Amino acid sequence: MGASYQSIGFNRHKWRYDVFAMVGIILFLALFIGAGSVLYPSAAPETFLIRGFSTAAFGLLHIILSIGPLARLNPRFLPLLYNRRHLGVLMSLIASAHALISIIQFHAFGDLHPLTSVLISDGSFERLGSLPFQPFGLLAWIIILLMAVTSHDFWLRQLSAPTWKRLHMLVYVAWAALVAHVLLGIGSDAVSSAPIWLTLAGSAWLITIHVAAAFRSAPGPDKQLLDDPLEVDAGTALDIPDQRAIAVQVVGETVAVFRDGHRVFALSGVCQHQNGPLAEGKLVDGKVVCPWHGYEYCPLKGTSPPPFDEWVPTFDVRISEGQVLVSASPNPRGTESTAGLIEDAS
Ligand code: HEM
Ligand code: FES
Repeated sequence: MGASYQSIGFNRHKWRYDVFAMVGIILFLALFIGAGSVLYPSAAPETFLIRGFSTAAFGLLHIILSIGPLARLNPRFLPLLYNRRHLGVLMSLIASAHALISIIQFHAFGDLHPLTSVLISDGSFERLGSLPFQPFGLLAWIIILLMAVTSHDFWLRQLSAPTWKRLHMLVYVAWAALVAHVLLGIGSDAVSSAPIWLTLAGSAWLITIHVAAAFRSAPGPDKQLLDDPLEVDAGTALDIPDQRAIAVQVVGETVAVFRDGHRVFALSGVCQHQNGPLAEGKLVDGKVVCPWHGYEYCPLKGTSPPPFDEWVPTFDVRISEGQVLVSASPNPRGTESTAGLIEDAS
């Protein structure tokens, strides 16, 4: 049995990012609690803890959800992508502090089971005007915990990349639940409308960058099948930046067409790790490197270099009159694809 890539372990950069994130959170909490106790000296300390942790977690969730689209819009944000999972786990810990203190403070000492109390103690689902806010917090917390627990690559391998990815897309359900949690919860709080405006601004920001990134990476229409129905025209060879790729739709699939000097080759545009966009990757020492977490693939075989055993399908390429013609069907595993040679163009 071959080896598979192991989890993205700790390294100096990751430690640096983690320390930076933790120091940022501690400073934020100190500032929030310090300023709160000066401005509202009569408020209970638990209130500052509940609100400090919740604001930090919700803010961090917005940062986490911004990283993906920002990295698609500008590769300078890619290093943040490598650390996104650690930020997610940190966020789940802070959100848990908020949820647990809230449960202890408001639900632990009554006649009801604390979780029943969370579900029924404020508002009711029967009338739209009196919707409760805490069940939305509970839903978000369950999702966030589920994601944190399965964030390790062990679960990625157990569940398979598509299932894991689908599970982790629930983060958007958690985010929507939290927007409801905050807006419904603060609705009755007349002290300030700032949290409402901040929440709406955060939502507008996230929606805008997600839409912009979706437009940026939307696949083009399927390339025309040529006279020979087994090939598609991927455009002019010299238009592909050297050591980089373009994404081409081939019969509904995204294919990454790379140029390595005078050689052009094509492989699936979907990384086996977490479906990262290989066409946004680059060639390093002759290997295709995924932009998300650095998985590598040999250009012609599509296999990860030994001892790893990941594989992406490859497609034959030939060049005719400077145009790149990509085979419409992938090569079987284990075979070497044919690269197109730009000198051969006639
Ligand atoms: C069982 C789960 C949860 C319960 C019982 C709960 C409870 C509460 C309560 C009682 C408040 C009002 C606090 C106040 O006005 O002083 C609140 C607000 C808030 N919660 Fe939660 N919450 C839960 C989960 C979450 C989670 C997972 C997050 C994730 C970030 C979150 C984020 C917020 C935010 C941003 C606010 C508004 C700011 C604030 O007033 O504290 N909550 N929550
Ligand atoms: S998606 Fe993680 S390395 Fe490609």
